[in-house]
Amino acid sequence: MTDGGTRRIRTVLLGVLSAMLLLCGIGTAVVTWVWTGGVIDTTGKVDFVNRLAVPPLAPSRIDGQGRRVFDLRAQPGRRDFGAGGPTATWGFDGDYLGPTLRARRGEKVLVNVVNGLGEPTSVHWHGMHLPAAMDGGPHQMVRPGATWSPRWTIDQPAATLWYHPHPHGRTADHVYRGLAGMFLLDDGASDRLALPRRYGVDDFPLIVQDRKFDSGGRLDHGRGALGGVGILGDTLLVNGTVGPYLDVSTERVRLRLLNGSNARTYDFGFADGRGFALIGTDGGLLAAPHRTGRIRLSPGERAEVVVSMRPGERAVLRSFPPETGVDFFNSRFTGGDDTFDVLELRAAGTLAPAPEVPTRLVPIDPLDPASAVTQRRFRLSGRQINGRAMDPERIDFAVTRDTTEIWELVKQDGTPHSFHVHDVQFQVLSVDGAPPPPELAGWKDTVLLTAGRPMRIIARFTDHADPNMPYMFHCHLLDHEDRGMMGQFVVVEPGQRPGRPPTGHGHTQGHAEHP
Ligand code: C2O
Ligand code: CU
Repeated sequence: MTDGGTRRIRTVLLGVLSAMLLLCGIGTAVVTWVWTGGVIDTTGKVDFVNRLAVPPLAPSRIDGQGRRVFDLRAQPGRRDFGAGGPTATWGFDGDYLGPTLRARRGEKVLVNVVNGLGEPTSVHWHGMHLPAAMDGGPHQMVRPGATWSPRWTIDQPAATLWYHPHPHGRTADHVYRGLAGMFLLDDGASDRLALPRRYGVDDFPLIVQDRKFDSGGRLDHGRGALGGVGILGDTLLVNGTVGPYLDVSTERVRLRLLNGSNARTYDFGFADGRGFALIGTDGGLLAAPHRTGRIRLSPGERAEVVVSMRPGERAVLRSFPPETGVDFFNSRFTGGDDTFDVLELRAAGTLAPAPEVPTRLVPIDPLDPASAVTQRRFRLSGRQINGRAMDPERIDFAVTRDTTEIWELVKQDGTPHSFHVHDVQFQVLSVDGAPPPPELAGWKDTVLLTAGRPMRIIARFTDHADPNMPYMFHCHLLDHEDRGMMGQFVVVEPGQRPGRPPTGHGHTQGHAEHP
């Protein structure tokens, strides 16, 4: 080969090599950028300049049949979140979120749900034990302009429940726009305890949600490309307030935390490391307070905590990177590495005295595994449960009224998933074969699942048999639920066979109230 030929080959090789190096460099830069851009940390960056909004208590009246009657209207609105312009939102009786409903055990309630939106929606009473026809799931759609009036008797312990739409395939969108609210239950046992209970004085609901706004202040509905969990926002709202502070006037405050987010899991604690008493979970108070510094909540879960404050001090409620049971890559893109400053508590110069948290709260009778008549297994993977996607016309199984069942929950993929059941509050029997930790030792309706750590839960299905009207079970990451990670079961009388759910999916109801 001539000298010239060799030189030419060398030049070409050098060219190819530098092009490859350049591509590698760009590739590395892009990966680094995506990787580091995957973390949100608002520690020390939130200006707590807005007084925390406290949702008003919903007015109610007692009708001729002794029922407590509420009115709830889903409607469009506008709210200035300070995000660069007014934001188009949806709310109940207002522009964003809804009033707090409150009722006592034993009371009969009736809610007139009016749909003032331009599309069908529904209102589900999350955590409530009630007949399936009153549950507000995808089979109780309310047409635009129509009124739906479910009625039931409150028949469960005092608890922090909530309500939100549940339209098939549209839940994530409706909740994200702002449709959600609290439903608090009271009873004699909780009344007798020396716990803070004055709503908006020493007892506060905290609905924590992440949202994303575009430069014009509009809600950004963009789903993260890599995480596969749906919308993750970079701005936190508490009760719809951005950068909230709360004036504290008593030595102890009770915070009723609700994770009202579509996909994000939080691990709440205080920036200064102070501990608090966890007194309640999804379905009510614990048997005894659990002293801790952290409480993790996945979407839909609730926790009641009591925090002590000293005169004049400030304390920042923070969400630390939550352990969501996925590998480091998935953790990064599903919010597992994110930190948020949530809320600043500001104690007054003098604080009204408040008693110590009682050492015993309410008795919780453990359900006996030996009494279970049926065991079922639920494998969660992708957007399916047991290899099947939600079909509103398919009933997956029937539970016999007045029996106890054990369900084993297994997560089989690398994405975060949770499990929520309608109709009942359950108890956790074990997590990966071990007894449940204190925060899972009370009544629960939603749990976060961790890969390779099967969870066994036990529930008693006491009443409300209806062979045709199903209850839902699903992952409470709303995007997963909308994409099919849901199933349906009915409760039947002994010996009865499951029937058929109302046909014609999207079937809406709009009858006026018939007493
Ligand atoms: Cu909070 Cu089936 O939902
Ligand atoms: Cu899921």
